[in-house]
Amino acid sequence: MRARNLRSADVKSLRRACAFFLVLLGLTSVGCRRGLPDAESYGARLYASRCSGCHAVYNPGSLTASMWEVQVQAMEPRMREAGLPTLTHDERRAILDYLQQHAER
Ligand code: HEC
Repeated sequence: MRARNLRSADVKSLRRACAFFLVLLGLTSVGCRRGLPDAESYGARLYASRCSGCHAVYNPGSLTASMWEVQVQAMEPRMREAGLPTLTHDERRAILDYLQQHAER
């Protein structure tokens, strides 16, 4: 049988590869379950691209509409300090609209 010819180092790296793929699979399915609502919309895509540079995106449903207003404002100096382009008026509007539409009620 072929398997008998495998050296223990091969078995180890095979095991490691399997473990790696299992972890990856786990992470992907968690990611799907927690995916953003209305993920294909303009607001969601803008939110995902502009707000994921420093931390994972928070689910819109985790904050209320007024908390989002405060949070988005609070991020602007962070973005400036990090040398990232700040949000234009339209971007801020679109992101905030999206977050508030799906906010905790
Ligand atoms: C330049 C890096 C950076 C970017 C880009 C950024 N954030 Fe943050 N964010 C932070 C940091 C740092 C914190 C940690 C808390 C703090 O310092 O205010 C944070 C915390 C948060 C929190 C949690 C606050 C809490 O009380 O737990 C929310 C919600 C948030 N950010 C939303 C956003 C949104 C929405 C955007 C896009 C408009 C965004 N972030 C983009 C750096 C960033």
